[in-house]
Amino acid sequence: MRVLIKNVFVEGKRRDILIEENRIKEIGEVRREEDMEVIDGSNKIAIPGLINSHTHIPMTLFRGVADDLPLMEWLNNYIWPMEAKLNEKIVYCGTLLGCVEMIKTGTTTFNDMYFFLEGIAKAVDESGVRGVLAYGMIDLFDEDRREKELEKAEYYINYIKDLNNSRILPALGPHAPYTCSKELLKKAKDLAIKYNVPIHIHMNETLDEIKMVKEKTGMEPFLYLNSFNFFDNIKVIAAHCVHLTDEEIKIIKDKNINVSHNPISNLKLASGIAPIPKLLKENVNITLGTDGCGSNNNLNLFEEIKVSAILHKGYNLDPTLIKAEEAFKFATINGAKALGIDAGEIKEGKLADIVLINKNNPTLRPIENIRSHLVYSFNGFVDDVIIDGKIVMRDREIITLDEQKVYEMAEKAYDKLRE
Ligand code: NI
Repeated sequence: MRVLIKNVFVEGKRRDILIEENRIKEIGEVRREEDMEVIDGSNKIAIPGLINSHTHIPMTLFRGVADDLPLMEWLNNYIWPMEAKLNEKIVYCGTLLGCVEMIKTGTTTFNDMYFFLEGIAKAVDESGVRGVLAYGMIDLFDEDRREKELEKAEYYINYIKDLNNSRILPALGPHAPYTCSKELLKKAKDLAIKYNVPIHIHMNETLDEIKMVKEKTGMEPFLYLNSFNFFDNIKVIAAHCVHLTDEEIKIIKDKNINVSHNPISNLKLASGIAPIPKLLKENVNITLGTDGCGSNNNLNLFEEIKVSAILHKGYNLDPTLIKAEEAFKFATINGAKALGIDAGEIKEGKLADIVLINKNNPTLRPIENIRSHLVYSFNGFVDDVIIDGKIVMRDREIITLDEQKVYEMAEKAYDKLRE
């Protein structure tokens, strides 16, 4: 089945978009044929599906359970006790809820780090979204634990590869330099090379963790990892990067490290403000992540786009920083580049990950400056979502999942966590 989006606004012009299999075949004037499923786009705007470069999707179930607390109290008293009760089924339900939210707010790809990946992969498979999944490894410098974590990570890479679903890709997730030993990080890198998968890691999120790494190694986290060539010959997505020295910025630039900027999570947990304008000056690839719903508290990437565009203006007292166009790229083409996915723009030959937005929305009027509206004004709820050439949502109705059933399952899963 081919999909034809008729008369839709793409970059300010009315066009037809023809999708064949999972790619954009043609953009222009396309004649309707028998075997095409036609979507009337005359009242809609087409944008590339958004890409969330750092999250922990099953944490949708932790939404709102503990706000306005210091980080360690939040983790010790709320998040970790609830995480101890997780199982595959609960993670599956949390991921389904996350998939509903992502689809409704135009996110087509997410980069995840968590546990019980069977549950996550099952939900990703059923929902139709695209996911890069890493098992989050933490050894806390314990040798037994290290070997078990590495075994699990390798098991999951093979598990995901064996699913043979082009929408579900494996990655490696050593949690962070303050929770993982040097040996674990080195072996994770070896596995990344062996399987040709990216590494997804938390870096320099808080001043406390940086202090811990400095006390242990005498170096800032990026310098420490660079001292054993961690960043060479692999693709790295480094989440947060809030506190960076100039020397660390140089490493990020020289080693082509992809930064996942998580401004809302960093603000809510009072971690700080990442030096994004400085990184952009060095041509670093900046992408956007929501982080988990325990610290955001949603997966609506349009909010992240807006905050990334306004935060650095206010903080640096310079309204010319991070222009709308740039912030939008963070969540689209830059994310695609970081994850090695041939999407992130509406162009012939690219993967067909397309989102349609209804123009009948007060936040998009007057209709002229659409790119500005999408960054600074739009509420984030979209009309139609196509992922990998398949229609996943049509006129706000999700086709792949029973939305009501997902809510019921999520409530039951939440009750189990609170028992
Ligand atoms: Ni995180």
